[in-house]
Amino acid sequence: MLCQSNEELNEYVKEAKRYTVKGKVADYIPALAKANPNDLSIAIHYPDGSCISAGDIEKKITLQSISKVISLALVLMDRGPEYVFERVGMEPTGDPFNSMIKLETLAPSKPLNPMINAGALVVTQMIKGADVEEKFERLLSFIRELADDPKITYNEEVARSEFETTYLNRSLCYFLKQHGAINGEIEELIDLYTKQCAVEMNCLDLARIGVVFAMDGIDPMSGKQIMPANVARICKTFMVTCGMYNASGEFAIKIGIPAKSGVSGGIMGAVPGRFGIGIFGPALDEKGNSIAGIKLLELLSKKYKLSMF
Ligand code: DON
Repeated sequence: MLCQSNEELNEYVKEAKRYTVKGKVADYIPALAKANPNDLSIAIHYPDGSCISAGDIEKKITLQSISKVISLALVLMDRGPEYVFERVGMEPTGDPFNSMIKLETLAPSKPLNPMINAGALVVTQMIKGADVEEKFERLLSFIRELADDPKITYNEEVARSEFETTYLNRSLCYFLKQHGAINGEIEELIDLYTKQCAVEMNCLDLARIGVVFAMDGIDPMSGKQIMPANVARICKTFMVTCGMYNASGEFAIKIGIPAKSGVSGGIMGAVPGRFGIGIFGPALDEKGNSIAGIKLLELLSKKYKLSMF
């Protein structure tokens, strides 16, 4: 689908781009360190199928933590909310995404929410399938359906790079296994999780997925209900309360839309009933969110009154 470059959006990108110098590309996953910190692009996808953009929207982004919303949606459909929320909580942590502290001090066998790494690992474990391959294929076909793009796949280099270095996620898994929250083979779970995080797409695909969440799980172009409205509602609520980790409160006040970030610099936004947003800006702030991406959303939220509050 064609996405029209938009002059006004280009102006906002130009303004927000000034903030990229204050950020830093993620380098704890070595393959992500190659990104250009000056990049900033955005696509906005409307329910009628039209789309506007600014910047190089063809650039590929790995989903990283944005994938957590999608795996949650799949698992909610696979298992139902009751099963899922017996194993992972609904409360924001106020801690960084990879923090371990509340696991030990509050609930060793039940991570506080599905957006932090501990919770996402428990969620990924719940994806149905006989083995890693089948589970990943199911997740990938769900993502392809959401984005209406059968070519979406994962970036093997990024997946391998994270798989080889992700000792912190391994330690979260071992902690959770000790406390009965994870049962299977940890290396298999890390394999699945790192592939999930390395699923790759461009801003347009991201905006296309955003619009499905914005329209309560319905693909507005085909009219198909891809996920139940209740699942989309739960996901959007987590995007508001935990989507930006320990910056979610400030984000809700300044921008006020459901959104999910990833350390690759991607942000997926879902403006309820209105449109989906895909942003790529790999320079991150100290909390792991795209620094210029957030600035851009702030400018757009003010201008177009996007806040739901
Ligand atoms: O598990 C990790 O650390 C990464 N694969 C994903 C973290 C992430 O994207 C946090 N988001 N801002």
